Amino acid sequence: MMTQYNLAQKLIHAHLTAPAALEPGNEITIRIDQTLTHDITAVMSYLAFEQLGLDRVKTERSVSYLDHNLLYVDNKTPDDHIFLQSIAQRYGIYLSRAGNGICHSVHYARFGIPGKSLMGTDSHTPTAGAIGMLAIGAGGMDVAAAMAGLPVRITMPKIVRVELTGRLRPGVSAKDVVLEMLRRYGVKGGLGRIFEYTGDGVATLEVPERGTIANMGAEMGATTSVFPADETVQAFFRAQGREDAFVPLLPDEKCTYDEEITIDLGSLDPLVACPHMPDNVKRLCDLPCIPVQQVYIGSCTNASYTDIKKAALVLKGHHVHPDVSLTVSISTRQIFRELLCDSTITDLIDAGARITEIACGACCGLGQAPATNGVSVRTSNRNFSGRGGTKDAFLYLVSPEVAAATAVLGFLAEPGAVLDDLSPLAAVREPAGYHVDDSMLLAPPEDGRDVEIRRGPNIKPLPVNTPPAERLCADVSLKAGDNISTDDITPANAQLSSMRSNIPLIAEYAFSRYDPDFVSRAKEMGTSIIIAGENYGQGSSREHAAITPMFLGVKAVVAKSMARIHRNNLINHGVIPMLFENPSEYDGISLGDRLEIDSLPDQIVKRRVLIYNRTKGISFSVRLELSDTEVAIILAGGRLPYIKLYGGSNSDNK
Ligand code: F3S
Repeated sequence: MMTQYNLAQKLIHAHLTAPAALEPGNEITIRIDQTLTHDITAVMSYLAFEQLGLDRVKTERSVSYLDHNLLYVDNKTPDDHIFLQSIAQRYGIYLSRAGNGICHSVHYARFGIPGKSLMGTDSHTPTAGAIGMLAIGAGGMDVAAAMAGLPVRITMPKIVRVELTGRLRPGVSAKDVVLEMLRRYGVKGGLGRIFEYTGDGVATLEVPERGTIANMGAEMGATTSVFPADETVQAFFRAQGREDAFVPLLPDEKCTYDEEITIDLGSLDPLVACPHMPDNVKRLCDLPCIPVQQVYIGSCTNASYTDIKKAALVLKGHHVHPDVSLTVSISTRQIFRELLCDSTITDLIDAGARITEIACGACCGLGQAPATNGVSVRTSNRNFSGRGGTKDAFLYLVSPEVAAATAVLGFLAEPGAVLDDLSPLAAVREPAGYHVDDSMLLAPPEDGRDVEIRRGPNIKPLPVNTPPAERLCADVSLKAGDNISTDDITPANAQLSSMRSNIPLIAEYAFSRYDPDFVSRAKEMGTSIIIAGENYGQGSSREHAAITPMFLGVKAVVAKSMARIHRNNLINHGVIPMLFENPSEYDGISLGDRLEIDSLPDQIVKRRVLIYNRTKGISFSVRLELSDTEVAIILAGGRLPYIKLYGGSNSDNK
C-alpha cells in the first residue's frame, strides 16, 4: 500500500535530498526551490553568497525585496538598495523595487507555487504556507547556502493537525484564529512543530486570511504552517493571472498526524494580544476601557485587500477620534491600486486615515513610533517592548476591524461598537481579478558576469569567527531573563536599521535597549559568555543578533532554551549554543562571573561541556544539541569557514 502523507510530509518528502524516515526528531536534508531576502537582512546574506565564488544562484527563483526601510534618513539605506540592485543583476536574482510591496505579500501572489519550497531571511516567510508552499524562515547565512544550491538541514518537526470547523462570525477574523493559537500554544509552543490547517473551516478562508494565520505561526516558534492548495488558492491564482502556475495539493485521505487540535471558528470572539508578548492574549470583551493614542493598520500580517476593505467599512461615515493618529500601510502596490479604483482609499482619507508608504515601516519601528508611554493598537504580529520604536510604549495586536473601531472611538473596541450591522464585513471577498503590472519587479540578465557591484561606504565586510580555543576563559557579559527577542539584542528603528550593513557600527548598539552597558562591558571583557533564560532569541530572524555579540567577543550563549532560527544563526557564526542540563543552575551564575572550559573542542564533539565557575568555585554542565554537521561548523568557526574548508557545494553533504 502507498504511504499516506499529510500535506507537510508530502512537501518535505518531495524535497528530501537523501532518503530519510519522516520521524519527528530525525535530521533531514531538503532542497530549496526559491529564496527571498529583504533589505535589512539581505546585505549580510549576499556578502556571504559572494564568498562562495559562484556566478549565479542555483535556485529556481530568488527574489530580493526592498520593502522594510524606505525612510532614507541618510545615505546608508539608499547605498544598500543600490548595492542590492546591482548584486541581484550580477547573480541572477529578481529585485522587487522599493514601493512594490512587502516581501511576503508580493511573493506568494507573484512568485509562489504550491508544492515548492521557499527559504527567506525573515521569520515570517511561512506566510507562503497559505498557498501550499513549504516556506521556512532562516538567517542570511542559511539563505546564502540555499542560493548556492546546498541542501538545508532541519530536524523533522511534529506535524500538528489544526482542524478548523464552522465559520467566523462577522467582526471576527483570521487574526483571531491565530491569536487563539497563540493563547493555546504560547510563544514557544510551536517549537519543533509544523501547523497544518485542515477541516471544513479552511474553505471559508480567503488566501490572505490563511496568510495571516501562517504568518503568525512564527510567533509560536513553529518551523512553518501550511494550508492545502485547494479551489480557493486556484481562484487566487486566477485573479493573479497565474492559473497556469497553480498545482492542487491536499493531504492524503488516510494520512495521520503527530498531534491534533480543533478550533471551532464560530466560537471565537475578537481577541487582543496585550503588551508585551504576542501570547498575552485576552478576549477584548474582558478588557477594561483602554484609551489609545495610535492605531496602525498594516504589515505582512494584515494589510491585504480584504483586511483594508473591512477596516474601511468600519471607518466609512465616521471620523478618526481626535486623540488618535491612524496610519494605514497597504501591503502591496497591486492591492493599493485595487483599493484606489474601488474608492476604498477615498473612504480611508475621508475618515482621517494617514496613508503611509507601501512598506513594512511602523511594524518594525521604522517610523510611526508611539508617544512616551503611548498605547498603540496594531494589526502587525509582534508587540515586544520597544518593537514600535518607543521603549515604554504599550502595543496591542488586533484584527483590522478592531483597529478601525478603536480608531473611531479612541479606546479598544469591537467593530460592533461602531457598526449596527456587521454583515457587510462577512461579504467582503478578494477581487476576482487583480490588475497585473510587474514593472517594479526587475528581472536579472541571462549572464550577469559583467555587472559592476556598487558598494557604498556603509557596506563593510562580513566578520568571520575563528575556531574555538582549546581552553576558554570568559566572563559573563550579560545575565538575561526569559524570552529575550532578537529585537532586544539588535533593536530596530530608522537609524539603527540603516546600520545593518555595517557590523562594527551596529555592534555599538547591541542590547542597547535591554542593557545599555552591555557593549562597554563586553569590550572590556574581551571574551565573554551570555547567560539566558527560556526561549532566548525569539522573534525576528535577523542574524545581526548573532553576529554583533560574536563581533564583541561572545563565544557562547548558555540558555535554558533557545528559539530555532536564532540558534541556527549562532551556529552559522561560530557562537556555541549551550543548554543548561539543570536549568536551576541558571540562578547560581552572576554577571561578571569568570567561567572556564578546558578541552573545549573535545567537549563540543561529546556534546556535553563542563563549565567551571571560578568566581563561585562551582562547576555545572551544559548540553549541546548539535548534529554532526553543526559540530563541524562550530569547530570550523562558522558556516562560511566550514564551507570553505570542505569545499564547494558538497560541503553540506559531509
Ligand atoms: Fe515587514 Fe513587519 Fe512583516 S517588518 S516582513 S511587515 S513582520
